[in-house]
Amino acid sequence: MAEKLVLAGPASEELGRSVAEKLGLPMLNGEFRVFPDGESKFTLNDKVSGRSIYLVQSTYQPVDQHLFQLLLASHHLSEEGAKVTAVVPYLAYARQDKEFLPGEGVSLGIVAHLMRSVGVRRLVTVDIHSAEGLALFSIPTYSVSAIPSIVEYARENLHLKDAVVISPDFGGSKRTEAFAQLYGAPFLKLSKTRDRTSGEVTIKESKLEVEGKEVVIVDDIISTGGTVKAAAETVMKQGARRAIALCVHGLFVGNALDAMERASVDAVVSTNTVPGKNSLVDVSGAIASHLRTLEE
Ligand code: R5P
Repeated sequence: MAEKLVLAGPASEELGRSVAEKLGLPMLNGEFRVFPDGESKFTLNDKVSGRSIYLVQSTYQPVDQHLFQLLLASHHLSEEGAKVTAVVPYLAYARQDKEFLPGEGVSLGIVAHLMRSVGVRRLVTVDIHSAEGLALFSIPTYSVSAIPSIVEYARENLHLKDAVVISPDFGGSKRTEAFAQLYGAPFLKLSKTRDRTSGEVTIKESKLEVEGKEVVIVDDIISTGGTVKAAAETVMKQGARRAIALCVHGLFVGNALDAMERASVDAVVSTNTVPGKNSLVDVSGAIASHLRTLEE
């Protein structure tokens, strides 16, 4: 059997297969099942002792089920003597990487603890919400950037004229600025605040150079769409010709897509870290390139 294999979890079947193809690696024969009551089961049908396994499993909704499947398979593979690299394209709980309000649990710290305890040796993710979160892990961690893939998609498909790239907040502005630089468009940042209790998003009023421009809002995550909606309303009010939204992880909770459309967001595009109809940017190449650089 090959030295390295890929196991695609139920949350990342296509992406996992595509990573394996790009690396020229075989798929491991493992089977995931969910019982009617919601419990998960994993069955390993291959011998893995001494092998390196890239276990690809994103942890979007149902978050805890996908996370548990990752932990279950990692534990089983490690117990059977495999060296497990968890490839978690969308890493859930990354936004709770500290105690923001007194008394809050640091969810990402628990995820880090669990991964280590089930034998995960390394974590590879895509655009973690904040690099600070990686410090919670005691295993080697890598955050692969999807920005070059999104830029390539935008160049080939969006044909923007007079584009201005906007970051909705300061937190993710470095990522958005990198997009603007690679794309070759001016960059602006908005000042967003979120009420940590109600979740409501507010954008501070300021004069922006967006009149007649095609505004590209770039963020790491779109969840409820509240951030993009508020950013689009701000720029459209100031005379922007068009607003579109690009993100790495498109969670699109509830009626997020409708809400953004109602706020005049012309197009919403995400990557396939979370699969769905808007996941038009493929990050399998970026992940495979990164895995090629890892030493055993
Ligand atoms: C927050 O800092 C993130 O970068 C995103 O802006 C946020 O998660 C988006 O969430 P929502 O779509 O619910 O506004």
